[in-house]
Amino acid sequence: MESLSTKEKTSKDCNGDSVFENVVRAPDVPVYAVMVAYSKDPSPVKLNLGIGVYRTEDGKPHVLNVVRRVEKLLLDDVSATKEYLPITGMAEFNKLSAQLVFGADSPAIKENRVTTVQCLAGCGSLRTGADFLAKHYHQHTVYLSQPTYGNHPNFFLAAGLTLKTYRYYDPITRGLDFQGMLDDLGSAPSGAIVLFQVCSHNPTGVDPTLHQWEQIRQLVRSKGLLPFFDNAYQGIVSGSLDMDAQSVRMFVTDGGECLVAHSYSKIMGLYGERVGALSIVCKTADVASRVESQLKLVIRPMYSNPPIHGAAIVTAILKDREMFDEWTVELKAMINRIIHLRQQLLDAFA
Ligand SMILES: Cc1ncc(COP(=O)(O)O)c(C=O)c1O
Repeated sequence: MESLSTKEKTSKDCNGDSVFENVVRAPDVPVYAVMVAYSKDPSPVKLNLGIGVYRTEDGKPHVLNVVRRVEKLLLDDVSATKEYLPITGMAEFNKLSAQLVFGADSPAIKENRVTTVQCLAGCGSLRTGADFLAKHYHQHTVYLSQPTYGNHPNFFLAAGLTLKTYRYYDPITRGLDFQGMLDDLGSAPSGAIVLFQVCSHNPTGVDPTLHQWEQIRQLVRSKGLLPFFDNAYQGIVSGSLDMDAQSVRMFVTDGGECLVAHSYSKIMGLYGERVGALSIVCKTADVASRVESQLKLVIRPMYSNPPIHGAAIVTAILKDREMFDEWTVELKAMINRIIHLRQQLLDAFA
C-alpha cells in the first residue's frame, strides 16, 4: 500500500471533534474585558476607569524615576545572573518586605517568628496563603468584608475554603458600619479566618480609625480568629509607610499570629512585574520555620520559584536610604495628584 504523505496523515488522523469540544465558553473577567475594549476603542478622549493603575497628566502609564534608575544599574551589574531563585524567593527582598510592613524594630522579626516568602504580587501571595491555610489550618471558613476587592473570593474558593461576609460599608453614612462589623465578627465561629485590608480599603476607600482597629483587635484575639491582612496600598493613604501600617502592627505587637499579603504593584508602580510576598507571623521561631518548610511545598507545584527582576528592583530601593527617600517622594507626589484629581471631580459635580 502506498504510504500517506505527512499532510494526508495529519489531516486523516486529526479528523473528528476536538477533544475540548465540550468546553463551555467562560464569561469574560469584567475588568480585563474593559481593558481590551479600551485598547480597541479609537476614541481620542477615552478613559479606562476599570483597572486600578496610576496614569500621568497625559493619561499615560507611569514608571517611577527611581525604578528606571535601578533598572539601569541592574542592567550594568555584571554579577547579576539569571539563575533560579530559591522556592521562597530572594532572601534580602523577603527580609526588607517584612521590615516595611512590621517595622524595622519589630520584635517578631528579631525573634525570627516571621516567615516571609516572595510570591507573585498581591494576588499570588493571597492565593499562596489561602492554599497554605486550606492544607494546614483547622478552620476553613473565611470572612470577607462586604463589599471587597472582586478577586478576593476567588483565592479562597479556589483553595477549597468556605466564604462568609462581615458587614463593612454603610451606604447611608458612606462610612464604616462598625457595629455591623463587630456583630458579624463577634458571631463568627472560633478560629475563623478574617480577611482585612491594611489601609485604603478596595473598593470603598473606608478604613477603621486606629481606635476602631484596637477594638477589632481585641475582638479578634478574644475569639481566637485568625487575621489575614491584604497590604496592597501601604503609604497610599497618609503618604507615610509607617502610619499606614499601624493597623497590622497592632496585631503583631500583641504577640498573636497573622498572615500578610504584600504587594508592590500600586506602591511602586510595578504592576506587571508581579512582585509581592506572603508573611506569616507565628508564636515561636520553631513554628515559623516549620510553616516556611510547608510553604515551599505549596509553592513548588504551582510555579516552583518566583521571578527575579521585580524583586531585584524592590530590594535595591528598600535597602538604599537615598533610593528609598526618592521612592517615598515619588509616592507622595502620586498620592497628592490623586487627591487633587478627586477634589476636581467632586467640585465638577457640585
Ligand atoms: C485590595 C487589593 N488586593 C490585592 C490586589 C492585587 O494586586 P496585585 O496586582 O499585586 O496582584 C489589588 C489590586 O487591585 C487590590 O486592590
